Amino acid sequence: MTHFHYHPRSEWQQQATQERSLCVLFVTSDKALGITAKSLDVQMDGALTKALQSPYMKGKAGQSVTVIPSQGVAWSWVVVCGMGDAASRTSMSYEQAAGEAVKRANELGATHLTVMLEEEMIVAECAHGVAEAHMMLGARLGAYYFGKYFTTKKEHELPCVQHVVICGDDVAAQTHHPRLEALAEGMIATRDVVSEPANVLHPQSFAQKCEDMRALGLEVQVLGEDEMHALGMNALLGVGQGSVRASQLVVLRWNGATKKDSAPIAFVGKGVCFDSGGISIKPAAGMEEMKWDMGGAGAVYGVMRTLALRKACVHAVGILGLVENMPDGNAQRPGDVVVSYSGQTIEVNNTDAEGRLVLADALWYVQEKFRPHTVIDLATLTGAIIVSLGKKYAGLFSNNDVLAQRIMGLGDETGDETWRLPMGDYYDKQINSDIADMQNVGTDKEAGSITAAQFLQRFIQKDVAWAHVDIAGTAWRKKATATSPKGATAYGVRLLDALVARYYEV
Ligand code: BES
Ligand code: MN
Ligand code: ZN
Repeated sequence: MTHFHYHPRSEWQQQATQERSLCVLFVTSDKALGITAKSLDVQMDGALTKALQSPYMKGKAGQSVTVIPSQGVAWSWVVVCGMGDAASRTSMSYEQAAGEAVKRANELGATHLTVMLEEEMIVAECAHGVAEAHMMLGARLGAYYFGKYFTTKKEHELPCVQHVVICGDDVAAQTHHPRLEALAEGMIATRDVVSEPANVLHPQSFAQKCEDMRALGLEVQVLGEDEMHALGMNALLGVGQGSVRASQLVVLRWNGATKKDSAPIAFVGKGVCFDSGGISIKPAAGMEEMKWDMGGAGAVYGVMRTLALRKACVHAVGILGLVENMPDGNAQRPGDVVVSYSGQTIEVNNTDAEGRLVLADALWYVQEKFRPHTVIDLATLTGAIIVSLGKKYAGLFSNNDVLAQRIMGLGDETGDETWRLPMGDYYDKQINSDIADMQNVGTDKEAGSITAAQFLQRFIQKDVAWAHVDIAGTAWRKKATATSPKGATAYGVRLLDALVARYYEV
């Protein structure tokens, strides 16, 4: 358990009394130190200035120099990290800087980390306390790791930082802190569920975690297989049919809008707790990755948690379609035809194109039941989106230019970037079937992410603004960044939280 605090700048030396204490200070791209750093430099006989002379050190984000002080200075280590150009510095830069600081602390084996944010490092665009609060968020996200299953690792093999202090305007930081703290908690909750293996996190245990969120004031309803059967959700049920785990549909509601009878915004997440491919089974290599095929549902779970924690002034509904896709004597066969909840029939030509079948019924349900003005679904839907966009952008598909612009526009600000792909008749035709209303894979095996989106759009009702975000390339990361260690990224939580905050709170 790591503890995080703000302290006033005047108290920055406080933690130097601890053993294994690290002080992180910052330098701009012109290598200018702030007042505090300069005074420390004097105490250290100019060791900081000297270290900064390295031609490698350009004060860029991600660069740092480490100095071990001689006698008379109580810190075990002093690290000077680059803060980059003031011109390109945003609130995200402060998150990254604090994430880097945590990373350095863990590499050095420091238990106590003090991050000194000097006034000189704060750009004018940031109101008082904003930079500090974003540093706190960055530190929390950077310190995340999923270590619950290690039993034999030695202390020095695990992240060891235990106390993180952000020194700055601690009073002003408090005004911005609650919103970002709620975001950090939501993202961490998402990372936790997405990281869990499928023997632990399956539809029922995930639904149970959702039920636990009643304590936050969320309304939670869980539909089991009998209820879904009675409603006719055969597209979703067909996917879970080969699994011993019972499929679940979770409904999370946050009713925070001041106007009580206003229509909600809805989020729908693909929650395939394990995707073996079913009878259209996947190759063995890499199949373990399919434990995170519930990343969309994980993001919906996290963002609903964030909205509740920060008591957002919005009516929001989160739907999680939870299933496990397995091969079995009772599993769905390629070629089977199912009648979806909407009444439209689907020929299931490939049981590995299961996410869209789950979403078809979940999307229809949320529209029938809650009449939302806007529906956004998140899904690790297609490997093809990684072919198209790599792992930088999530694929964005929408029937509404305003909504698409809003989502794309928030990419820079949140780091959850999207790139919009086209839709239309040319692609839609590909999913016509010879024996049913549609088939779940395209005939020509081209534009796989787009035909998947066309499939989903067939379950969107008239006048509903809809966006589909394909997060197959962004939900999981094999390489760590400053604020996102290897593994689950919680992509989408920030994006949806920011979307609500910017456009849908009243
Ligand atoms: N869950 C996968 C998509 C995926 C692939 C997510 C890689 C994350 C990383 C999805 O259910 C799937 O299997 N899609 C198929 C669709 C195909 C059968 C039309 C795919 O992408 O190959
Ligand atoms: Mn699949
Ligand atoms: Zn899948």
